[in-house]
Amino acid sequence: MGPRILVTGALGQIGTELVEALGEKHGQESVIATDVRSAPGCRILDVMDSAGIQSLVKGEEITEIYHLAALLSATGERNPDLCWKINVEGLENIIAAAQANGCKVFAPSSIAVFGPDCPSVAPQVTPLNPATVYGKTKVVCEQLAMTAGIDMRGLRYPGLISYKAPAGGGTTDYAVEIFHAALAEGHYTCFVREDTRLPMMYMDDAIRATLELMEVSSEKLGGARGGYNIAGCSFTAGELVASIQRHLPEFTCSYEPDVRQKYADSWPDDIEDDLAREEWGWAPQFDLDSMVDAMFAGLQA
Ligand code: NAD
Ligand code: SER
Repeated sequence: MGPRILVTGALGQIGTELVEALGEKHGQESVIATDVRSAPGCRILDVMDSAGIQSLVKGEEITEIYHLAALLSATGERNPDLCWKINVEGLENIIAAAQANGCKVFAPSSIAVFGPDCPSVAPQVTPLNPATVYGKTKVVCEQLAMTAGIDMRGLRYPGLISYKAPAGGGTTDYAVEIFHAALAEGHYTCFVREDTRLPMMYMDDAIRATLELMEVSSEKLGGARGGYNIAGCSFTAGELVASIQRHLPEFTCSYEPDVRQKYADSWPDDIEDDLAREEWGWAPQFDLDSMVDAMFAGLQA
């Protein structure tokens, strides 16, 4: 028997592609997509509804949970109490259901766990003093992975770039919005400075990393299991513009930094991912130019 899978937050930027990939791997009938919003093929499940989660996990004999429901950094800073509730209490509800029903859990962490005291290339092990509420909720998430007494795993995703669903209220959203604006308007007003460098990753790499991490036998995973660093490609907003101009030479970008600049400045420029490479064979496939090429191919198809 293969796994019976529950995905929360399934209509978001990652869920849209992860549900598809899990269905291809394990069969569509094995995957139950849920979200607080409604859409065809997706059941309503609010992660604050602990009784609803328990009943669905038990009733559907769920064995694996991919817990994607969360508020991201920019939305989280505007609604800090709600961010804590959804990201921490929502996760606690998922963990309780996993404990009661023997489920394995994937719960993503983020580059937002790092704070201004982190070196510019973030090591796996470094003090975690995030500047945002969102980052603090992700530190708690990593700690719960180690203490909950279940098989719970996570990745410190960089900013994710994709075309199948919009980005969901994070600081790295400019690196997604810019493609839509480039094609629709030929111009983008970027909310971080031109020299802002952040760790980023193309969605295909992120989905593959997620599936690979969940396949690894638990003995191979050490103390970073709640949040492995994984690097994709790191670039400045200006370098992204230059790569887009290979496709659209007339494209222009202006820079009007807003409050999200502060969050971006508190995060590292790049990520050291040696441990993920050693322990479970992680390797990215997309660099800046191949990611931009794939985005244009996807958006123009
Ligand atoms: P997203 O905002 O695109 O999607 C989140 C989904 O959660 C949305 O569809 C939303 O409707 C749903 N949701 C919100 N509140 C809910 C609730 N109470 N109950 C059930 N569903 C609810 O986010 P995403 O980019 O897909 O991110 C998924 C996970 O990955 C999050 O934990 C996020 O922190 C993490 N992550 C994302 C990125 C990125 O760049 N996208 C980077 C690092 C980490
Ligand atoms: N992409 C996310 C954000 O900007 C990082 O976790 O919030």
